[in-house]
Amino acid sequence: MNVLQVSAEIFPLLKTGGLADIAGALPAALQSVGCQVRVVLPGFPAILADLADSWILAELTAPWGERLQVRQGRLRTLNLDAYIIDLPHLYARAGSPYEDAWRQPYADNHRRFALLSWVAAQLAHGLDPHWQPQVVHSHDWHAGLTSAYMAFMPHSSLRVATVFTIHNLAYQGVFSPACFYELGLPHEAFAVNGVEFYGQVSFMKAGLYYADHITTVSPTYAREIQTPQQGCGFDGLLRTRSRALSGILNAVDDAVWNPATDHHLTSPYDVQDMTGKALCKAALQQELGLTVQADAPLFGVVSRLTDQKGLHLVLGALDAILARGGQLVLLGTGEAHLEALFKARAAQHSHAVSVRIGYDEAYAHRIFSATDVTLVPSQFEPCGLTQMYGLKYGSLPLVHRVGGLADTVVDCSLENMAEGRANGFVFDDFNLQALERAMARAFALYARKSEWKKVRAFGMRQDLGWQSAARLYAALYQHLYA
Ligand code: ADP
Ligand code: GLC
Repeated sequence: MNVLQVSAEIFPLLKTGGLADIAGALPAALQSVGCQVRVVLPGFPAILADLADSWILAELTAPWGERLQVRQGRLRTLNLDAYIIDLPHLYARAGSPYEDAWRQPYADNHRRFALLSWVAAQLAHGLDPHWQPQVVHSHDWHAGLTSAYMAFMPHSSLRVATVFTIHNLAYQGVFSPACFYELGLPHEAFAVNGVEFYGQVSFMKAGLYYADHITTVSPTYAREIQTPQQGCGFDGLLRTRSRALSGILNAVDDAVWNPATDHHLTSPYDVQDMTGKALCKAALQQELGLTVQADAPLFGVVSRLTDQKGLHLVLGALDAILARGGQLVLLGTGEAHLEALFKARAAQHSHAVSVRIGYDEAYAHRIFSATDVTLVPSQFEPCGLTQMYGLKYGSLPLVHRVGGLADTVVDCSLENMAEGRANGFVFDDFNLQALERAMARAFALYARKSEWKKVRAFGMRQDLGWQSAARLYAALYQHLYA
């Protein structure tokens, strides 16, 4: 089965969030279950720089008249065949792939990402005479137009199935109707049964409407997005498509996230010998100027600082954490007001709270290794990866019971403990009281060292690898293509 994956990001070349981790891990996972995978990506500088042995596969004219090249080659770091859209005018910009230095979306984002889908559709339609995808698998709104373009291509005898994965329904790729006429889609596509969304164009909707099958990144989120509360305006459409919608839980790339082999850690460790974790904790406390204290429960947050992530609850609970002798370390970047609030708290309590604003992959690994608890109190969470990284690194996740967090974390209630299923702390109501109760359970368990260690070891031993998800995707492709 030949599969073309379409995404805007790919770890480790370009990452702003979990999408990149998944786009980076999925090709190898699919290859291990017998798929042939290639990727198509925008020619962002970091991606072009990694492309080896490349040549120009095609020179094309975008729907709005701009000339571009499609380069074919191999991504060195990932050892992966790739098609890259080479158009520096659109992609060679420093900083975030989506926003300018003032955090404003680029005014030509509709072109920059329509082009990704448009080129994917050309590849589906035979652009490469030596390789024909049988399935085109697009991710998130950036690649949402792929199946729309494919739906309107001249009919050919080739059958190519389309899969669209929602990583986050809240980001919908909405543009003014004026943009529609640059996209090269026929007039009839601008309709309720098409890409139109409340009078505007939504790239996300294109994926939801035109793809043969929609997946999202956890079974619970697949159900939640069919409700008005979590459907972000798409719940009606998703309900009508419910038979073509499924949840496949994300997984963890063990080559990147494994405390025994992680080169970012000064003292690697595994579940048999946790000495290294204690050393990682002491080293981080020391480095950050926190009180170096082995038995102070250390809470960690590695997150985009947005409302989605529920971090105002962490701010609210901070006094309770400190009063009980806990410490907090946070790494994140995002909304200015959250950055300022966290920095202010760190300044007040520099021996117990450390806040680093920025994006730092290596430091994120060190936080999971050093902390006892990983906090993920998200208001909504399609899957969430950091709670799984926490599990692998022996940092028990404390989460709100939504989306993929509900599918991966089992609360340390007495009955779950007795059944040997507990791996973290879960709260139901999205409010400070509920979070503080879960935190109280975390402190209580932390005080019972042997039980804490048992739960931690269970979490570390859990199979969070890609095998099961890769098989589910492969079975889906087979089903669609058959
Ligand atoms: P989302 O994709 O919604 O941001 P996920 O939990 O799925 O949430 O994935 C977040 C990914 O981004 C994880 O790999 C996490 O470690 C990483 N990450 C988030 N913020 C930072 C940061 N400031 N520095 C380094 N890595 C970060
Ligand atoms: C999105 C979601 C997150 C998910 C990630 C990878 O960014 O917010 O929950 O884990 O995509 O699928």
